Amino acid sequence: MMPVVSPAKLQEFSLDEATRVVQEFKDQPGTLINALHKLQQTFGYVDEAALPMLAKLFNVSRAEVHGVTSFYHDFRRSKPGRYTIRVCQAEACQAMGSEELSAAIKQLLACDFHETTADGLFTLEKVYCLGNCACSPNIMVDKQTYGRVSPASFKALTQQLAEKAAVSK
Ligand code: FES
Repeated sequence: MMPVVSPAKLQEFSLDEATRVVQEFKDQPGTLINALHKLQQTFGYVDEAALPMLAKLFNVSRAEVHGVTSFYHDFRRSKPGRYTIRVCQAEACQAMGSEELSAAIKQLLACDFHETTADGLFTLEKVYCLGNCACSPNIMVDKQTYGRVSPASFKALTQQLAEKAAVSK
């Protein structure tokens, strides 16, 4: 799983800054993926505008860079929402209804996995085991894990988060 970075710590994307932060990987074979991770940690996603720069830096085609970002679903291609919600899909959570919970969450947020809600508040992702199997089904919001989540408790939680986001605007 990609490290969770608080949205407050993410920087606004700029090509100059992107070029600067990936310099440490220059001339190191096989480190394109590390550079992509660094961009995602810095900006929360890999901006399309960074791909030509990466291709040049690593002496590969743009298609190859694009291929790597598409292959690994952890790499986001657009700016994440205010909160990133990860819904556990692993065995213990599945046994406790994570599929039904996922369906309810997708319906409630009107968004699918790897997407962000229209209001920019929530990005929805899958995760495979949060190490809290005894309290399945689990979700994680940014760095906080929530156990025994039901559609109703999820709805209440997202309402609280939306209110918190409105206050801190
Ligand atoms: S299977 Fe979901 S927390 Fe372990």
